[in-house]
Amino acid sequence: MEPEFTIDVHGMTKIFDGKTVVNGMDLRMRRGEICGFLGPNGSGKTTFIRMLCGLLHPDGGSGSCLGYNVIRESEKIRLESGYMTQRFSFYEDLTIAENLDFVARMFSLPGRRASVEAALEWLGLANRRNQLAGELSGGWKQRLALAACMIHKPRLLLLDEPTAGVDPKARRQFWDTIRTLADGGLTVLVSTHYMDEAIRCDSLAYIAYGNLLVHGTPAEVAGDSTLEEVFVRLMDGVEDSYH
Ligand SMILES: Nc1ncnc2c1ncn2[C@@H]1O[C@H](COP(=O)(O)OP(=O)(O)OP(=O)(O)O)[C@@H](O)[C@H]1O
Ligand SMILES: [Mg+2]
Repeated sequence: MEPEFTIDVHGMTKIFDGKTVVNGMDLRMRRGEICGFLGPNGSGKTTFIRMLCGLLHPDGGSGSCLGYNVIRESEKIRLESGYMTQRFSFYEDLTIAENLDFVARMFSLPGRRASVEAALEWLGLANRRNQLAGELSGGWKQRLALAACMIHKPRLLLLDEPTAGVDPKARRQFWDTIRTLADGGLTVLVSTHYMDEAIRCDSLAYIAYGNLLVHGTPAEVAGDSTLEEVFVRLMDGVEDSYH
């Protein structure tokens, strides 16, 4: 049976070179929830995401992710999570289809060909299958990245600033896709520096310098102010990440 909370972790901590970069963070997310992860540069978003999906061993903390023990069962979590890294990259001299095939091999997917075909169809990549990844625009690269991290049908999607460098129309389409996936039961944690994305999330978690300061619905986070006002206040000092 699916656990009520896809993510239910407490006291997650990471220390690098004696410096605490994630400081006892708690986070709970329900199945099918989209949580926007906000915070200034260097506040620990990527580090937290990597601890959740089993790529980085926490120095403290406990709880579960996808029903598995977040400390002891990291390999199982990794295999059932899709993780789009902050600066995703492909083999630029391979085609779209070849890149997806490569990812499918890494996961040792049974029925690899069918999985690649399904991913191509699903994101409208089929008629571009023979295009080289290096020649794609930002929006198509992003679709390829999403197809690659969904190819093994994960139950949790971790997106680390997925829309940096993508034009507004492609971003809107991307978010429509994410919402459809969440409606189907996929849980999504997405870090972003964009207000128009934050507003599309079911909940927002704001982290600054390793500490989780707020977690709630956009309305709860905004309180008596507009979300826009709160956002500007919270994100002050991160303008240089707006490119
Ligand atoms: N492998 C590492 N070794 C040492 N320090 C690290 C390592 N990874 C991250 N850090 C440090 O941990 C802190 C948090 O970094 P992290 O990348 O998690 O922040 P972030 O919120 O994702 O930032 P951004 O918005 O710029 O992506 C930073 O001070 C960073 O320099
Ligand atoms: Mg980061």
